[in-house]
Amino acid sequence: MRRISQISDLHFGRTDPAVVEGLVRELDADRPDLLIISGDFTMAARRSEYAEAQAFLARLPKPWIAVPGNHDISPFHLFQRFLRPFSRYRRFVAPDTEPTFQDAEIGVVCLNTVRTWAPEQDWSQGKIRRRQIAMAEARLAAMPKNLFKIVVGHHPFMPPPWDEEARLVGRADKALAAFRRHGVGLTLAGHLHRHYARFAEADGEGTERVAVDAARMQGGRGRLLAVQAGSATSTRLRGNEPNAYNRIRIEDGLATVTVRLWTGTGWADAG
Ligand SMILES: [Fe+2]
Ligand SMILES: [Fe+2]
Repeated sequence: MRRISQISDLHFGRTDPAVVEGLVRELDADRPDLLIISGDFTMAARRSEYAEAQAFLARLPKPWIAVPGNHDISPFHLFQRFLRPFSRYRRFVAPDTEPTFQDAEIGVVCLNTVRTWAPEQDWSQGKIRRRQIAMAEARLAAMPKNLFKIVVGHHPFMPPPWDEEARLVGRADKALAAFRRHGVGLTLAGHLHRHYARFAEADGEGTERVAVDAARMQGGRGRLLAVQAGSATSTRLRGNEPNAYNRIRIEDGLATVTVRLWTGTGWADAG
């Protein structure tokens, strides 16, 4: 059995200090086997914001792994944005923007979905490159068959059930098909500051989007559950949703996701 927590969209520069302290306390008491941070550490990649993020990371239980979000590259310093977009991320968060994690029960592959430049689209939108899909496939294939496999990115792989037209990470369908071929049971992402989960099932060349009962979010055993986290600590909340993060329990090939919501004084299970 493994216990994982996923936190996302911290957005230092626009955080609620009480929520940050509450989250550090809860994670320290809970001590998950692995903490996954799915991007947007800062608001605008400012040095002061990264310094806050670094101080926060130093207080978290280990091990943790992370990917960058679109807010983690500078919108101001164009030279830096194009030539060395992740230099501050590498210095303050982690040197590797696409880490992996593996133990006797779980295998986690992280993808950096942040794009610094795209001719036809908004910079905040992410995309998975073909070579990243190939890299993820190679990493997944190298892991023992019996591991529960998870893929992490910042941008969503599946749209919210209330907005089928929501922009997904570029090449989401191809990526999900590849992940399914390798027996991935969960994808974890953020960016939208709303929590939800949906099954991504094979539908010819594409992906069928299947609704999930919020009280029973379970992936694995042949089904790929695409899980989204809300914003753990930011005051940039959407849809009247409080700060939130995901607790995931992995046992007998099944991952059960529980959303934890900030109540104003602490965290409690959703629903
Ligand atoms: Fe965000
Ligand atoms: Fe984002």
